[in-house]
Amino acid sequence: MQNNYEAEISGMAYGGMGIARVNGKVYFVEGALPEEKVVFTKTSEKKRFGLGRVVEILKPSSSRVEPACPYYNKCRGCQYQHLDYEKEVYYKAEQVKENLGRIGSFREYSFDGMTPSPLHYGYRSSITLHRSLAGYGYFGWDDKTIITIEQCPLAEDTINRAIKDLNSLYTKRNITLKSDHKGNVWISSHPDHLFFKDSYSGTELTFSPRAFSQANRQVAGSMVEKVREFMKNEKGETLFDLYCGTGFFGMLLRDMFGSVVGIDESRIAIDCANAAKKGLGIDNAGFYCGEAEKTYPAYYEKLHGKKNTIIIDPPRSGISKKIAIWLSGLKDAESLYYVSCDSAILARDARILTQNDHWKLTNVSCFDMFPRTKHIESIALFKSPSD
Ligand SMILES: C[S@@+](CC[C@H](N)C(=O)[O-])C[C@H]1O[C@@H](n2cnc3c(N)ncnc32)[C@H](O)[C@@H]1O
Repeated sequence: MQNNYEAEISGMAYGGMGIARVNGKVYFVEGALPEEKVVFTKTSEKKRFGLGRVVEILKPSSSRVEPACPYYNKCRGCQYQHLDYEKEVYYKAEQVKENLGRIGSFREYSFDGMTPSPLHYGYRSSITLHRSLAGYGYFGWDDKTIITIEQCPLAEDTINRAIKDLNSLYTKRNITLKSDHKGNVWISSHPDHLFFKDSYSGTELTFSPRAFSQANRQVAGSMVEKVREFMKNEKGETLFDLYCGTGFFGMLLRDMFGSVVGIDESRIAIDCANAAKKGLGIDNAGFYCGEAEKTYPAYYEKLHGKKNTIIIDPPRSGISKKIAIWLSGLKDAESLYYVSCDSAILARDARILTQNDHWKLTNVSCFDMFPRTKHIESIALFKSPSD
């Protein structure tokens, strides 16, 4: 059975794979770039499309560059290291528009483009590694094998310096390393590393290596500034920060509202938010631990009748249908911001949010929070048409 094919690459698919056509069938080819001619090997075959990996490049793209990482061909973490960074940003912005149009049928909104990351490597202030008998590393392309690493070019230098000691000190299956802006490293398995302070826009927040935090310090700061710009004409009394984690958005935008209510299911994240609140002497914010599906409506009821602004920043899997339906009918809220790291899921959820014509998608801004990887951060703004 034939397994290797020669093909021209006609485009770049969501996720960073080149698009090829062989005998009328579409193949998504890892490692191939638009305008290239390649030989690829088929790795799996579905009814409507196939998957493949490049084995030889017959005609390279002028945008092809040398990957910086020695593990790039084995590790699953990055998908764009072989592409010039400007082109990566271009394709990612196109993919967000494509997903919103194809999955969500959204075409009439203002697309504010993609804010690039100032750093293309060395930007990650948070990484999670997995343990095999050989040591800590990332999952390989088969999603099973752990590729042990001595360094990750995406991570900040201080994190890379800490990686070399992990194998002799820790045994836990998963371990998270986070760095603060002063260069300290905080490790999830370390008994004394439960909380640490870090500063954003001059505000001291509290984080934990055991709770979510934004991975790219500079781009996260740009996102907050963008939301602030959008919010400047709003008259919202309360900011409702759903999936608030350590209170990142609520805390940094609190000066624009009379009060902030943050909710997250992670106990330790909420402990961080409350520690920061106490440290800053804030009395107009409350952070509560709870599962979205069970607790949000009850908390929101208390704000009924006020002009509220809502920001949601759920995990990659998005929001549940139940919450999306509930949010779609919130008539007393002025605007809804959806921060997403998967535009296909954003498009899916946005369809439900706008289903009964209460919310209208008005703006989408993208941020390259994770250069060299397939992930894209977007902020979608929904306005109530009556505003
Ligand atoms: C992408 S993070 C965003 C955190 C925060 N907004 C920030 O910027 O740091 C997603 C958050 O959703 C929380 N989460 C996940 N599932 C949840 C659920 N069903 N209900 C409430 N929170 C949930 C996680 O604990 C995590 O803190």
